[in-house]
Amino acid sequence: MAAILSFRTRRVFFLSLTLFLILGFFYTLLNRLPTYDLDDSRTHNILSNDNKVNYIPIESAKKYIDVEVKENIKFDINPGEKFLAYFTHSGYHNQRIALENALLLAKLLNRTLLLQPVLLGPPVPWARFDKLYERLFLISKNGLEHCSDIPKEYPLPLECINYYTYTTVSWGFLINMKPIREWNKIIERWDHSFEWLEHNLNINKDKDIHFIKDTTLWDYRIYDKNESKVLKFDKYKRKLILDDLKRIEKKVLHLGSLFGSYRVLPENDNSKEYLKFIRKNIIPYNNILKETSDNIVEKLGGEKNFIGLHIRVSDGFFMKSARKNIDFIYHQIVNNFTNFTPEEVDELEGGTHDQDVLEDESVVLGNDDNSRNITSSITPKSIKSIKLTTTTTTINNNKNKNNNNNNNNNNNNKRVYIPDIPEFSNKINGFSSKVNCKKQLHSTDQGANTVIYIATDAKDPRNNPLLFKFFNTFPCVFILDDFEQDLIDLKSVRNIHDKTPLASYLIPMLDSIISAKGFSFIGTPKSTFSNYIDKTLHPIYTGKDLIINITP
Ligand SMILES: *[C@@H]1O[C@H](CO)[C@@H](O)[C@H](O)[C@H]1NC(C)=O
Ligand SMILES: *[C@@H]1O[C@H](CO)[C@@H](O)[C@H](O)[C@H]1NC(C)=O
Ligand SMILES: *[C@@H]1O[C@H](CO)[C@@H](O)[C@H](O)[C@H]1NC(C)=O
Ligand SMILES: *[C@@H]1O[C@H](CO)[C@@H](O)[C@H](O)[C@H]1NC(C)=O
Repeated sequence: MAAILSFRTRRVFFLSLTLFLILGFFYTLLNRLPTYDLDDSRTHNILSNDNKVNYIPIESAKKYIDVEVKENIKFDINPGEKFLAYFTHSGYHNQRIALENALLLAKLLNRTLLLQPVLLGPPVPWARFDKLYERLFLISKNGLEHCSDIPKEYPLPLECINYYTYTTVSWGFLINMKPIREWNKIIERWDHSFEWLEHNLNINKDKDIHFIKDTTLWDYRIYDKNESKVLKFDKYKRKLILDDLKRIEKKVLHLGSLFGSYRVLPENDNSKEYLKFIRKNIIPYNNILKETSDNIVEKLGGEKNFIGLHIRVSDGFFMKSARKNIDFIYHQIVNNFTNFTPEEVDELEGGTHDQDVLEDESVVLGNDDNSRNITSSITPKSIKSIKLTTTTTTINNNKNKNNNNNNNNNNNNKRVYIPDIPEFSNKINGFSSKVNCKKQLHSTDQGANTVIYIATDAKDPRNNPLLFKFFNTFPCVFILDDFEQDLIDLKSVRNIHDKTPLASYLIPMLDSIISAKGFSFIGTPKSTFSNYIDKTLHPIYTGKDLIINITP
């Protein structure tokens, strides 16, 4: 009897203890959630906005600035009107590419585009049509309205744990949709259900919708010509011809994904012009972004007075090739804009060139979760060599020093100095005086005083070993963190509807705008974000024409 009793007592004790530990664990976990934390803001997503009445910031009681993110535009339906619908998925830039395709297709088919808002937060991955339809219902905050009322001091209930990690805004919050709306009709819908189509467009789902459902990621591609000239590059499974799509009579033409560069392939000249128009308009257009970027660009000496870089190191793919990419970017600047000798460059780089061209993972990277795995693999040796070399802050003309260990050698002897481009040489030599550089300028210049702005997702860029050769070589290198004072407003912005902070989406966009305003831009190879800055933002901001190049 006593044995049983003590067994019971023990069991109760252990159960209570376990319960207590579990509760304690969740309590700690919930309190540690970064969801309210505005400072943790370097996620790679998007954004920008508008000077319409809609977007007047409303000061809330806290330090937050709550902004309207929803464009509530009323619409009427004409009797003969036809519509084009598709599904949104993936990260911001993929959504932007899909929007370009959707707008082009809507224009070519003379159909009104049914547009879903921008999804910000962890990307909703692509899925085949029916599955994606279901999946998109999961990102609604319907029924979770109470989450934003819970005071900061209290742990979030389970259903609210992810509440602040994602949000939804109108495209018009980020870009200027007005010219596009005037060019082709758009109806924004915050509900992608078939029921919404029935109720709002006065149709019958079974009779009035023509579905083209995708079953693989690269399923269909739309051609504006019957006989395409670029077929041999095709990764798509099905070929849809515009002329055939035009013959579809049903009110709604419903596709799945429209993601993928040139998914709607513009081979005809008029299609190319349409796409150019679309791209010219799908650029950041948002008050807060404009004000903040203008202030910072001014501090960099003004538009076209610096070199803009976009260096992506987070995410598996870019993490792996980070050193190689950074080396490539660094040498483009050194080669094209300075006249350092190879020896001086080796010295400035800190003798790490050898390591830099290796595709290894032994380096601390951005705040991506995966980087935890990598940190531990740093060898004491590489840390040591990095520390030693950070002391090299000025150019010593120690050419007597025999740098004969050229076992690596980028024998780049063609270090072009800028003078053959007079416009640049004046600026490069002149504008650094307008800028509050962090280090002492090189007396001989040699192009080294060029102002450089680095847009990056690297964590703590100034102290990140990956980037140190930029700071080591050039005295006028800047990053967004250098302008904390200018970021106060932007970091306080929240979506007025769900109280979700928007800073983590606005910051990469801000970074890209600033870097695109330099006289020259260099991005990270294979990054769609860099490519967007290079092929769209930078030409637009520097007054150049956009080039639509459909050959891969
Ligand atoms: C485009 O569609 C509208 C109906 O929505 C129609 O009135 C107009 O004539 C069409 N335009 C062309 C060029 O077919
Ligand atoms: C393209 O093919 C369609 C049939 O699919 C035909 O109706 C149309 O006239 C053709 N267009 C041209 C420009 O050849
Ligand atoms: C640097 O020069 C090379 C070769 O002339 C050129 O291909 C590259 O585009 C230049 N880079 C920049 C950023 O000007
Ligand atoms: C850590 O990296 C190795 C290979 O580099 C990989 O196999 C492993 O799955 C990673 N672990 C985690 C937790 O990401």
